[in-house]
Amino acid sequence: MELSAGKFLCLFALLSVVSAEIFFEDRFDDEWEKRWVKSDWKKDGDGAGDWNHTAGKWFGDENDKGIQTYPDYRFFAISAQFPEFSNKDKSLVFQFSVKHEQKLDCGGGYMKLLSGDVDQKKFGAETPYSIMFGPDICGYSTKKVHAILTRNGKNHLIKKEVPCETDQLTHLYTFIIRPDATYSILIDNVEKQSGSLYNDWDLLPPKTIKDPDAKKPEDWDEKEYIPDPDDKKPEGYDDIPKEIPDTDTKKPEDWDDEEDGEWTPPTIPNPEYKGAWKQKKIKNPNYKGKWKAPMIDNPDFSDDPDLYVFPNLKYVGIELWQVKSGTLFDNVLITDDAEYAKKVAEETWGKHKDAEKAAFDEAEKKKEEEEKANEKNDIDDIDDDDDDADDTDAEDSHEKDDDNNKIEEEATSTHDEL
Ligand SMILES: *[C@@H]1O[C@H](CO)[C@@H](O)[C@H](O)[C@H]1NC(C)=O
Repeated sequence: MELSAGKFLCLFALLSVVSAEIFFEDRFDDEWEKRWVKSDWKKDGDGAGDWNHTAGKWFGDENDKGIQTYPDYRFFAISAQFPEFSNKDKSLVFQFSVKHEQKLDCGGGYMKLLSGDVDQKKFGAETPYSIMFGPDICGYSTKKVHAILTRNGKNHLIKKEVPCETDQLTHLYTFIIRPDATYSILIDNVEKQSGSLYNDWDLLPPKTIKDPDAKKPEDWDEKEYIPDPDDKKPEGYDDIPKEIPDTDTKKPEDWDDEEDGEWTPPTIPNPEYKGAWKQKKIKNPNYKGKWKAPMIDNPDFSDDPDLYVFPNLKYVGIELWQVKSGTLFDNVLITDDAEYAKKVAEETWGKHKDAEKAAFDEAEKKKEEEEKANEKNDIDDIDDDDDDADDTDAEDSHEKDDDNNKIEEEATSTHDEL
């Protein structure tokens, strides 16, 4: 019994691996430049950044390299081609890992899938794409995972919030789109968001709309409270004066009616007076609630059973602007098999994450110790005249930083509108 169950499981595992279709997979070995094309975009002047083939400053395995952006204040554009495919009747799984070693304060860490024919040497921000996916950080307000789907030339952002990781370690981002028009977004192999392409993007006009011809019926009563007809104004209520003569005050003895005029006592507030009469209010027995137009089928809606399909996927690319560089991409995978992607994730990110964390903690400790040592040196040098000049330099470069952050914030908001 046990044996056959084991055999069955083995066979099943084998089948599921065999059936996986891998459209593209790159772990960035030494041949990586044969597959990836650096774009000439922004090459005039000093705008285009470059890529360092490295495991970075902290890693689980020195030989497991990716590609890392450098230097600062640059545009980055690079892409790789694969045999064109359509994800019709299949799942589409797009996965990669990204590590922001630079303590990113503003910049993207996302990748794009492109369709049709693209001049890879001209690939840039204006190049149309089909899917854009991955983390984006800018200041305190933007710390999210982008999941943009393009339909009929229009980019649609996901309507749900998906927070991204913000530390300096490697994280794995996975986007799964299924033939039943559902999707999942995973970070580090944990599902962070899921739902339907119909609901979480505005890819199609809404299925139902408020009936534009519907009118509120004349007798529709929207008043929740009405005056109580049983509450009647007491007789003589309006005759009660607001003020009455103060009977405690007597006409002064030296009052001369002829010279001073007729004496009238001063008035005081009348304790009987209760203000203007107001009828009590009661719940309206005819209250029907706020009127709402009924929903009808939207005549502009026509369902598209291929809503999830991207028929001509052919390139994967990275296109970014970064204030501070140091973002490292690795383990790019495009497949139809979420289980295979999970396996790759465990083999790569999963296998190295603990050692990487330990290496990072070690690096931080070392940095802290160095900073302490420097501080001590500064105090020792306190009489040194050069110190003032150094301080001014530091302030200047801070200001520069702020300016560039502003530019990037604008750049990011443009991204959002795309
Ligand atoms: C490439 O990465 C290595 C490791 O982090 C680093 O030592 C080197 O300075 C980097 N080169 C450039 C040009 O950034």
